[in-house]
Amino acid sequence: MKVVHKPVLLKESVELLTSNGGKIYVDCTLGGGGHAKEILKRRKDIYLIGIDKDDDAIEIAKENLKEFEGRISIYKADFRNLDLVLQEEGIEEVDGFLFDLGVSTFQIKGERGFSFQIDAPLDMRMDPEQTLTAYKVVNNYPEKELIRILKEFGEEKFAVKIAKAIVQRRKKKPIETTGELVDIILSVVPEYYKHGRIHPATRTFQAIRIEVNKELESLKEALEKTQEFLAPKGRLVVISFHSLEDRIVKNFMKERENQGILRILTKKPITPSLEELKENPASRSAKLRAAEKL
Ligand SMILES: C[S@@+](CC[C@H](N)C(=O)[O-])C[C@H]1O[C@@H](n2cnc3c(N)ncnc32)[C@H](O)[C@@H]1O
Repeated sequence: MKVVHKPVLLKESVELLTSNGGKIYVDCTLGGGGHAKEILKRRKDIYLIGIDKDDDAIEIAKENLKEFEGRISIYKADFRNLDLVLQEEGIEEVDGFLFDLGVSTFQIKGERGFSFQIDAPLDMRMDPEQTLTAYKVVNNYPEKELIRILKEFGEEKFAVKIAKAIVQRRKKKPIETTGELVDIILSVVPEYYKHGRIHPATRTFQAIRIEVNKELESLKEALEKTQEFLAPKGRLVVISFHSLEDRIVKNFMKERENQGILRILTKKPITPSLEELKENPASRSAKLRAAEKL
């Protein structure tokens, strides 16, 4: 079955990005190319640079965006290196950057260890060429580090219990799969936690994924770098999927607004409409923030 990623907050984000009438846009999280396609359809004179660090995403996007050949360049890179990509393109000014953070449906639905619902090897790398995997985090990190990660990146209130259980289990034999990790979590969290709004493994999986892909560091670095390239009236548009990312984006935009560098266009973050939520429940935690370079 072909897995398709439904772009989130598509119309809203592309409108905020392109309504400044610019010509050069960078999609820092190309994924399957859903947002990229909508951006390119806006005006014929738009040129788009697409970045993703996942080889599968690049393949799918290339296929999906074939009709725009000549108006798009696709790079396999971490968006924290967007400056290197733009240097290679010979581009000094950009009219807008889009970040649609998190994982895409084909990453979640694949057997790459992103989901606690699919039993698979503990991997979780967006970039299959990097060496750090979820397996290494779960089996090699000291208990203290595991606790820190679960608390900081998962806001998991049973971080200590879960980390201790992981360490106990791996003494007997390495923890190889997502299924084993889920069992460990279920074996130590209280009964009521199993009947909450989210699955008890959600936060642990989020935390490990953030650690493996260095998601928060990459985001902070990339946001800083956009500032070197944004043209006057250039737009920075970010869709985030959890509070840690959203806080980074919100604080970044506020600080730059206070310094007279950016003007925030979304006083409150934009969230999916009821219609979108019905059609695509995966969009439920999305928050869209946008700002304009002064
Ligand atoms: C939610 S998906 C984007 C979906 C896309 N907007 C679409 O409509 O198809 C996020 C994508 O960002 C990529 N990604 C996440 N962090 C990245 C990073 N630091 N550098 C490059 N790509 C990243 C992921 O590999 C994934 O393909």
